[in-house]
Amino acid sequence: MGEQKELPFPYETKELEPEEEELIKSNLGTYITRYVKLGPKGYMVLKPYMKDAANIYNMPLRPTDVFVASYQRSGTTWTQELVWLVANDLNYEKAAEIPLAERYPFIDGFMFFEPEKRELYADVMSKTADENFDREKYMQLIEFLSLPVSPLLAAAPLTQKRFIKTHLPMSLMPPKMLDTAKVVYVARDPRDVAVSCYHHSRLFKLVDPLKPFKSFWEIFYRGLFTLAPYFEHVKEAWEQRHNPNMLFLFYEELSKDLPASINRVADFLDKKLNEEEINRLCDHLSIDNFKKNKSVNFEEMREIGVLAKGESFIRKGKSGWRDYFDEEMTQQAEQWIEENLTDTDLRFPSMK
Ligand code: A3P
Repeated sequence: MGEQKELPFPYETKELEPEEEELIKSNLGTYITRYVKLGPKGYMVLKPYMKDAANIYNMPLRPTDVFVASYQRSGTTWTQELVWLVANDLNYEKAAEIPLAERYPFIDGFMFFEPEKRELYADVMSKTADENFDREKYMQLIEFLSLPVSPLLAAAPLTQKRFIKTHLPMSLMPPKMLDTAKVVYVARDPRDVAVSCYHHSRLFKLVDPLKPFKSFWEIFYRGLFTLAPYFEHVKEAWEQRHNPNMLFLFYEELSKDLPASINRVADFLDKKLNEEEINRLCDHLSIDNFKKNKSVNFEEMREIGVLAKGESFIRKGKSGWRDYFDEEMTQQAEQWIEENLTDTDLRFPSMK
């Protein structure tokens, strides 16, 4: 990735303050890959991100490209499958055959792991791993996951429609991307995002299993979790929602009226679906079917013993934050949300 030095990249990085590092460590426990703050909004990227940041920012786009973007745990996987099936004329056979992760290279996914620290990740994992933990396979997986996918995307034949997953905010993507590519952005009530991120971190054993949600929340709402600040992320996409190449969805809208969201995606992609097709797609996308769907549920990772028992990638699939927030946290959240919505007309369906 050395060539990226030649490419224009307007942002600088800033190290975290020692107190911030300490807060993360004490609230999350395990903390191997460090963060750095990027650009004027101080987006929290994991340090390996910088090895491909300029390549991503300058990536050549094609008019056939479709991005599914979000702050993590906002319904990305759900949206990805919906978008892919609509764009591919409801080819369920192919969707079952090729895992979603292969259909959608995850452009920023490499930043979560540093290949040179694979022994360390494996040591941490082995402390809580199941009896079937396969250390070698886990280290190979880390090496594979830590490879940037931008070269792979650049090499995709021109005849191939590219579907790309990202959790990056718009400002870290190519500045003129909406002149060329289509973006479907999905947003969700941040309280549910926080709960879901907590479980997700437990699933991959990225946090100490003894830490309660309250510790995680402390990090999340202070903007010290991956790709925070959360509201800046959502607002950047919200500001582009009238661009004909941007479709802005809310998780809560998908939950409330999936057929309506399917129709919006179909219109956006110039497709037409009849009632029967919509019904079948709703059934395919239901949480119960999704949990069982091997193409989307990441359950294959359980075979090497790295996923925590009692947690899963496809989880509850509904709003549940009230069960996690005590009075103090509820007030903190309300204040945080209010402060961040003063300068925007962004309103979450769950807050109207
Ligand atoms: P919960 O943890 O609240 O259940 P992402 O794909 O961005 O990582 O988002 C994951 C969240 O979307 C999880 O939320 C997951 O359960 C939920 N989700 C995934 N598939 C879903 C579906 N078919 N219906 C409803 N929610 C779904």
